[in-house]
Amino acid sequence: MQKLILLLSFLTATATAGENQIVLKDRPGKNQVVAQCAMCHSLDYITLHATILDRAGWEKTVGKMINIMGAPINDADKQIIIDYLAQNYGK
Ligand code: HEC
Repeated sequence: MQKLILLLSFLTATATAGENQIVLKDRPGKNQVVAQCAMCHSLDYITLHATILDRAGWEKTVGKMINIMGAPINDADKQIIIDYLAQNYGK
């Protein structure tokens, strides 16, 4: 928990210091993630969860964003986003 708080304050500090918060890895699928996942919250939600979510975890999380939070993401983009997250930010 202590570590998480440290990490959170570090992220907040760097997010306010830089003009643009989080830069995601430049791989196929990045555009979809940036376009679809940053409209409600910061992209650091993704980097913060990279160490705890595997592919199944990302599938569940993206499904939750769509079904519970109401993210307007179509099935094609959903697959691209899950692949991108599992490959680049999976544990
Ligand atoms: C329609 C708004 C919306 C969109 C679009 C959205 N999210 Fe979220 N997301 C939320 C909200 C609200 C929470 C906070 C939920 C909570 O506190 O439980 C959240 C929380 C999260 C979390 C924290 C873990 C969790 O399960 O709560 C992650 C990771 C996450 N989002 C990833 C994503 C990704 C990846 C995308 C793109 C596929 C995305 N979000 C798109 C609304 C959205």
